[in-house]
Amino acid sequence: MEFQKNIICIGAGYVGGTTMAVIAAKCPHCRVTAVDVDADRIALWNSGNLPIYEPGLDDVIRKARGKNLFFSTDIDGAIRGADIIFVSVSTPTKSFGEGEGMAADLQYWEKTARRIGESACGDTIVVEKSTFPVRTAFAMERILSTMNSGNRFQVLSNPEFLAEGSAVRDLEEPDRVLIGSHDGPEAVAARDELVALYENWVPREKIITSNIWSAELSKLAANAFLAQRVSSINAISVFCEKTEADVTEVARAVGMDNRIGSKFLNASLGFGGSCFKKDVLSLVYLCRCYGLHEVAEYWNWVVRMNEYQKNRFVQTMLGAMFNTLAGKKVALFGFAFKADTGDTRETPAADVARSLLAEHAEITITDPKAIENARRDLAGLPVTFTPDPYEAASGSDAVAVVTDWSLYKTLDYEKIFQSMNKPSFVFDGRNILDHSRLFEIGFNVFPIGKVSLVHF
Ligand code: UDX
Ligand code: ADP
Repeated sequence: MEFQKNIICIGAGYVGGTTMAVIAAKCPHCRVTAVDVDADRIALWNSGNLPIYEPGLDDVIRKARGKNLFFSTDIDGAIRGADIIFVSVSTPTKSFGEGEGMAADLQYWEKTARRIGESACGDTIVVEKSTFPVRTAFAMERILSTMNSGNRFQVLSNPEFLAEGSAVRDLEEPDRVLIGSHDGPEAVAARDELVALYENWVPREKIITSNIWSAELSKLAANAFLAQRVSSINAISVFCEKTEADVTEVARAVGMDNRIGSKFLNASLGFGGSCFKKDVLSLVYLCRCYGLHEVAEYWNWVVRMNEYQKNRFVQTMLGAMFNTLAGKKVALFGFAFKADTGDTRETPAADVARSLLAEHAEITITDPKAIENARRDLAGLPVTFTPDPYEAASGSDAVAVVTDWSLYKTLDYEKIFQSMNKPSFVFDGRNILDHSRLFEIGFNVFPIGKVSLVHF
């Protein structure tokens, strides 16, 4: 079949792989290829065992792969034939030099820019998909224009707002698609081409355009606002624990205010994931670079609050269990940074596990999808893993719910209680269990932002 457009994405990670799969499914007239330097990852995308767990993704890939969706390591070949190049390579936090621990590490992105400059043929649209610091497009344009390839490039910013665990739905029915461009005629033509691509399945009123710097900043700002909501409700949860207020009741009352809204008000042991901490710190770093120290500090507290909340969770365990965890057995229910994903990047579970080990506790980790990643994250540490939560809890002193997997709500807690050491403790870091029921069974129950239920 003759395809009308050749679309590629450099970087076949969570964002690149999933986004290309949905574009391919929605645009059968386009040939869509995701390329990556990681040959193992590409082999998995081409297999029956995808490199990521994402509900609904298997189906989408099965329908399009081999027809108009391809995964390949031939990056230069893909660039040569591309009309539109999405760039979705990793932009982790810098772990060295200037801005270490805060600024975005742009080395993979710059390598990609140069590679596009070397291999592209004809007029090409380059779309920033990963989250970049504001004004990254400027650097991309400079690199491409000084490589003297004779080609013309238009750089657009089209940040991805998908959340893991709901990525396919977020892509199929996005709240909005944002496309940032310059305002010259060629840039506007490129922007309209990308608008037309999304119009294949997204209503036109949900596709918004802006200047390119606004688009870059909007992604950082959206993640900062979301992270701030979690830190805000977590700050309230601390206060609730001191005053016998209940954070769920407070969140419901606050969230019913139309101006505030009810989402992202679940108190937890802290947020995780590859974006929130990284993007807020990137924003903090950028503010500092512009000399905006008060603004930087304001956002920095979102991350500091999150660190405090993670520490507090373990401090509560320590205090409740008579100030010693040495030799005690703790079952961690969940290791993924949230439910419905196997991703463990920046998961609060890793901090909890390390802090418990520092107290000489013995820990067993269970998770339906994240055990392989957990093994890798905690390599060399004395930790036991099992996919079976009953086995994890058996013989333990405490169960700590770290990930909000819904399966943990429906376990047989009578059976779990019978199999545990006494006194038995539950620390619900996600407030997903029925606390009064657990208390009736005999557990000592410690939720987040609520009165603890203790038998002694
Ligand atoms: C986030 C943004 O939501 C998404 O738009 C962006 O593109 C990437 O970053 P993601 O990291 O996949 O997505 O997960 P998200 O659902 O935002 O959750 C982040 C963390 O916050 C998780 O650890 C989650 O458990 C925690 N969280 C979320 C809470 O603790 N309480 C809440 O009410 C909501
Ligand atoms: P995200 O969650 O933002 O999608 P990932 O880390 O899952 O982030 O994906 C980024 C992908 O980019 C990885 O698969 C990585 O191998 C790939 N990548 C990094 N640098 C390059 C590069 N120079 N060329 C092609 N792919 C790259």
